[in-house]
Amino acid sequence: MPNDVHQNETASALIVFFADLQAADNAQFIFDQTKAAGLLPAGVDERYVTMIQTIYQQMSAADLRNSFTLDTALPAMQFMLVARAHGFETGPMTGFDHEKIGSVLGMAPERYVPIIMLAVGKAASAPTESVRLPVTKILSFR
Ligand SMILES: Cc1cc2nc3c(=O)[nH]c(=O)nc-3n(C[C@H](O)[C@H](O)[C@H](O)COP(=O)(O)O)c2cc1C
Repeated sequence: MPNDVHQNETASALIVFFADLQAADNAQFIFDQTKAAGLLPAGVDERYVTMIQTIYQQMSAADLRNSFTLDTALPAMQFMLVARAHGFETGPMTGFDHEKIGSVLGMAPERYVPIIMLAVGKAASAPTESVRLPVTKILSFR
């Protein structure tokens, strides 16, 4: 993390969010849990599990990458909000070695793709004030 040395040395924790390229294999497990909770009629899951696996098999590498990035970035953002609600600060970072981090952490590179890292900890000082683009510049009603 040559550009994020400070965060690496001072954050209480660094959490890396990896996309799981075999996520579709969880489909049956999720449907089994849903059925066990009485939230899904019997028989529906077979159709959906096949559909989910077929969709992933047919997606281009670029579409897969987009899909997995979304599926990983949303929970990372959610984690940031939950951490804040519990009194922690976080900082999102992509400035790490995406080629090496998997092997450093023992994550099989053919299955797990690093998407984003969060520095997490208690704020050592008040955060630097920052600004946002005005809403009129980024939002339009159609
Ligand atoms: C996807 C993403 C990746 C980022 N990667 C880094 C990084 O590697 N190193 C860094 O110092 N800041 C990085 N930043 C910026 C900070 O984490 C942070 O967003 C920025 O300081 C502005 O925060 P604020 O306006 O909420 O205060 C990244 C931000 C985003 C959204």
